[in-house]
Formats: sequence, C-alpha cells, structure tokens
Amino acid sequence: MRSGCPRLPPRLNFRVLMPENLMDKLVSLAKRRGFVFQSSEIYGGLGSVWDYGPLGVELKKNIKERWWRSMVHEREDIEGLDAAILMHPKVWEASGHVAGFSDPLVDCKHCKNRFRADDPRIKGTPGQPDAQCPVCGMKGTLTAPRQFNLMFKTFMGPVEEDAAVIFMRPETAQGIYVNYLNVLQSSRQKVPFGIAQIGKAFRNEITPGNFIFRTREFEQMEMQFFVKPGSAGEWFEFWRAERLTWLQGLGIRPEKLRWHQHGKDELAHYATDAYDIEYEFPFGWHEFEGIHNRTDFDLKNHQQHSGKKLDYLDTTTNERFIPYVIETSAGADRTTLVVLCDAYREEEVQGEQRVVLKLAPALAPLKAAVFPLVNKDGMPELSRKIFDDLRRHFNVFYDDGGSIGRRYRRQDEAGTPFGVTIDGQSTEDQTVTVRDRDTLQQVRVAATQLVGYIKEKITG
Ligand code: GAP
Repeated sequence: MRSGCPRLPPRLNFRVLMPENLMDKLVSLAKRRGFVFQSSEIYGGLGSVWDYGPLGVELKKNIKERWWRSMVHEREDIEGLDAAILMHPKVWEASGHVAGFSDPLVDCKHCKNRFRADDPRIKGTPGQPDAQCPVCGMKGTLTAPRQFNLMFKTFMGPVEEDAAVIFMRPETAQGIYVNYLNVLQSSRQKVPFGIAQIGKAFRNEITPGNFIFRTREFEQMEMQFFVKPGSAGEWFEFWRAERLTWLQGLGIRPEKLRWHQHGKDELAHYATDAYDIEYEFPFGWHEFEGIHNRTDFDLKNHQQHSGKKLDYLDTTTNERFIPYVIETSAGADRTTLVVLCDAYREEEVQGEQRVVLKLAPALAPLKAAVFPLVNKDGMPELSRKIFDDLRRHFNVFYDDGGSIGRRYRRQDEAGTPFGVTIDGQSTEDQTVTVRDRDTLQQVRVAATQLVGYIKEKITG
C-alpha cells in the first residue's frame, strides 16, 4: 500500500460557520438526501408521523444494532425479547396507563381547537372568563381542563364494541414485564438480570413536533433490569454511568449532554427516581433517554391483576421477593435526531462553503462512495469492480454523475466518511485515492488493501 501521500495541501483553510435555522436546514437535508420523509406526503402528510428513507433507515439501524450489541450480546446478564405491539387490555389497567397516562386538555368552544392546559400561549385560566384562545383570540371560550388519554385505541376482531377495545402500546416496557417469568425460566438467568427490547410505541401526542423529536409513532430501545430490592440504588447509578458512556461512544459532543433529575411533580406514575439525559437541540435542552427506578410497581400490579405469582426465589438465601426494576429507556428516533443535529456542520474550506454530516463512521449509512474520475479509459470498469468488492463488506454507493466536486459534496451531506476515486493512475497501478470526509486529506491506497483500510477506520 502506498499511503500517506496527501494530494491536497496538508493545511487546508477551514472555517466553521454557525448555521442559522438549523432545524429547517436539517429537515430539508434529510429529505434531499433520503434520510427522513413526511409520512403520506403526496396526500399532504400525516401529522407528526415520519418515514425513514434509504439513508435514514441505515442510520437508525446502525444505532439500534449498536444498542443491541452493547445491551444483549456483550452482557451475559441481559436477554433479548421482541414482544407484540398488541397486548391484553388488562395490561394497561395494571400498568396504570388507562388511569394515569393522560394530559390535561382544554377546548376552545369557538374555533374548536384543542390545547394542552399548560400551553404557554394561553393567557388567563382555562374555564374562566379571562382565558384567551391562542388561535382565534376569543376570551372566555376555553373549557376547564379535562384529562385526555394518550393511548391509541383500536378494535380486535370483527365487532367494534367496548369489549373489543385494545390499545397500541405506548411503551415497550410492559411486553417485558409480562414476559419476565418466561424469560427467567427459559434462559435460566438469576436476579440481577435484564431483558432488552427494541420496538414501536404509539402515543396520541397533543403537541407533537420538532421533526422526529416528538411523534405519534416511534421506536424505543428499552431495557428492564430486575434486581433485589435493597440493591436498586446501586444499580440505578450503575446504569446511569453505562448509558452516558454508551452515548459518548456514538461520538456525541459531551458538552451537548447533561443530566436532569426529575422533581417530585415530574415523576411518571411508576417511578420513585428518574434522570433524563438531555441534549442541547437547536430548540433547546430536551430529554432523549431516561433512567428510571420503577421499584416493584409494575410486577406487583401485574401479579395482582393477573393472579399469577411473579415473585422470585433467591435459592442462596431462600428469600422470596418481587424484584425492583431499573429501566433504561431511549427513543431510537430521538437518538437519531441527536446524532443528526450533532453531526451537522457548515464549513468554509479554501473559500468554498460546504454542508457536511460528521457522523461517526460506525454510524454512517454509507461507509464509502466510489467515483470513476471520468467515464472512459477503463475507469468505469475498474470502479465497478472495486465497488463490487467493497459492497460485500459495507454499504457503499456508486456515483459517476457530474463533476467530482459535486459528487464529493453530495456524499459530505450524506455523511459518507470515505470517497474512493479511480483515476488515470488507478488503471495503471491498481491504486485509488481515498478522501477523508472530515480532513479532506487524500491518500493513495492499493485496491487490494481498500477493504482492510476502511474496516480499520470504521470499527469503533
Ligand atoms: N418506558 C418508559 C418510557 O416510555 P418515556 O420517558 O415516556 O419513558 C422514553 O419515554 C423515551 O422514548 C424518551 O426519552 C424518548 O426518547 C422516547 N419518546 C417518548 N415519547 C416520544 C414521542 N412522542 N416521540 C418520539 N420519541 C418519544
């Protein structure tokens, strides 16, 4: 391999620009490059539901796979699960979601709009004559707050009656609790142990928004760790530390992450202690993952409602107890948004502006793009051969359209870490240039060594 021979000047003139309207730019880039599209766009879209395009599905999959590897494959004490979205309706009574998973809402009797009671745009007190509708501006038309359950309902079977109502799960965690005994017995685990699951969840959010931050259909990556009651505090701290380390491993800038401990009024109905991991999004600091001490709330309630004993016998001490649960709950979509926001850069290089997604190579949807410098003189044939070699190992892209500069720019926006160019010299000595997305340095690498070269750079 002939490497280490930069073709561009070794010191490039970089200037980092401060992008304005970052969310608008990100949404537009996501569509342009095939990361995320609005659901049912040709019909005008469906409120706060999004589809992942060719690059987005790869990015989210890479995040989920990394999570699964670290939670399930790399740990002896955690098992995987894929529970169904539809569950027995009693699950949601036992879990407290039927009674407590709601937001207080107010209606405007004049314009028929509906708002969260704590909507900061509302002036005055809803239900009182001084309250002013934030949309139509009428005074005294807002109703007193009423609880609105966030679970989507549907019917099971052919008859649409109350007895047939079931819910789309609003969190994946309950599928884990109701399978806790099945997993414990079939895997022969002992407490402490965990069950991990990735799957869709649904919430009829009243104020969704900010792109894929708050949506009505989303994916969660949740792990429930079952522990002896007296050890819950210790495991809570353990999982807080683990989750932060994992997130930093995604390449997220540490200064953009912070903890937020829930105050008494913020705690979910099942938690006695909870910390959010927040990211500084362009629209402010917000949660994208939580670590919760759910005590024995869920298992105890399922035991009560199902009549099935869910306690655990510790054979070393002969003690019986219902395990406490430490939960780590991350949104796959919100984590994807964090990764996208964190990677987005606008730069001026040698006087020219570029937009680049500086995704960690391990997360990047495409690991490399292959470019014949021109479409003649044997370059396309060699390029195709190299492309075919590479795609047996990585997700790669072939691009022979437009100037080489434009092809580089497109891949910068896609976050592709390496650009492989086949030029006149390549057809003579079977070497190619590899352009690094971030430094823009180019090195010559023998075609036969290319897979190893890229593999070494993207593992991590
Ligand atoms: N099982 C616990 C639980 O569901 P949560 O704080 O309600 O806790 C956990 O949700 C994570 O799921 C959040 O940190 C967020 O990443 C994601 N999430 C929740 N609601 C969401 C929504 N409407 N849209 C996108 N992600 C959401």
